[in-house]
Amino acid sequence: MTTSPDVTTPDWQGLVQAATLAPSSHNTQPWLFRIGGSTIDLLADRTRALPVNDPEDRELTISCGCALLNLRIAAAAAGLRAEVLMLPDGSMGDLLARVRVAPTAAPSLDAELQGAMAERRTYRERFDSTPVDPDVLRSLAEAAASEGATLTVLETPEQRLHAAALVAEGDSVQWANPSWRRELAAWMHPRRRGDGLTLPALAVPVAQMVVRTFDMGNGVAAKDRQLADESPVLAVLATAGDTPHDWLAAGQALQRLLLLAVSRGLQASYLNQPVQIASLRPKLQQLTRRPGHAQLLLRLGAPLRALPATPRRPLPDIQLAA
Ligand SMILES: Cc1cc2nc3c(=O)[nH]c(=O)nc-3n(C[C@H](O)[C@H](O)[C@H](O)COP(=O)(O)O)c2cc1C
Repeated sequence: MTTSPDVTTPDWQGLVQAATLAPSSHNTQPWLFRIGGSTIDLLADRTRALPVNDPEDRELTISCGCALLNLRIAAAAAGLRAEVLMLPDGSMGDLLARVRVAPTAAPSLDAELQGAMAERRTYRERFDSTPVDPDVLRSLAEAAASEGATLTVLETPEQRLHAAALVAEGDSVQWANPSWRRELAAWMHPRRRGDGLTLPALAVPVAQMVVRTFDMGNGVAAKDRQLADESPVLAVLATAGDTPHDWLAAGQALQRLLLLAVSRGLQASYLNQPVQIASLRPKLQQLTRRPGHAQLLLRLGAPLRALPATPRRPLPDIQLAA
């Protein structure tokens, strides 16, 4: 006998836990949740911002958008309707979204993406070289569009070459900046910390020292250029505007397309350097031959091996009292 989920008492902790499976820049997990009577508030935790890498909190807001989409998917899988009010305190506030949940009899297709949340990984390695089915790419673009963003696949050799060159240029600029390197080093953590870019505990002090001290831009640029060149799919996620509202939309679009990609046997990673360096960002957008603001540059393909999940912070650390 199958049992339907108990929608009279929502599993709030389950919803929050699902939200935290989202990706975030440097795995900062810059979110807080506040559970009310029938609502969950999603707030930006700006103490976990990356002022050098992300001075406007653009990626921070995108990361929270990813968590918001996970929350919506988990609600759908629990038989709940989720109504989202974006930025109820205005675009400068920390309250990014208020999600009101209520039981619904209408099943949502979103529930089908639930299983992909725990399977998604940022896959920074080489992909299987098999091309990705164009129908799958079309469905990923539709997924992004349904959340208010545009996914453009860079298809021609010229577009791909140019994008790879922008990534390499971005690497050189970032690694030449000691403040950027210090910020990156500060987020290199042992797994037990529950956040950051994880390394074996014994390797952390040396790795941090090396990153802080040496400009490794040339080596990283060469490796990233190769990763971009070889990737079965290189695609730009963009939005029409460039406000916190657009960043939240970009995050939800990103997470929706990532979950759909996982359900089709794909994983993704990021080559965002040309978006993070202000002077390169319009050049990346130009490559798409569409108006708008590039938010992320993604590689997509079939993974060659399974990766372990990255750590997450304990739920009590990310919840505020109502
Ligand atoms: C907005 C955003 C920007 C990101 N930028 C990068 C990036 O430039 N390079 C990178 O390797 N990973 C990037 N990531 C991936 C995160 O590092 C990754 O999500 C985090 O380490 C957690 O790992 P997971 O995605 O495997 O759960 C980004 C993620 C998000 C949401």
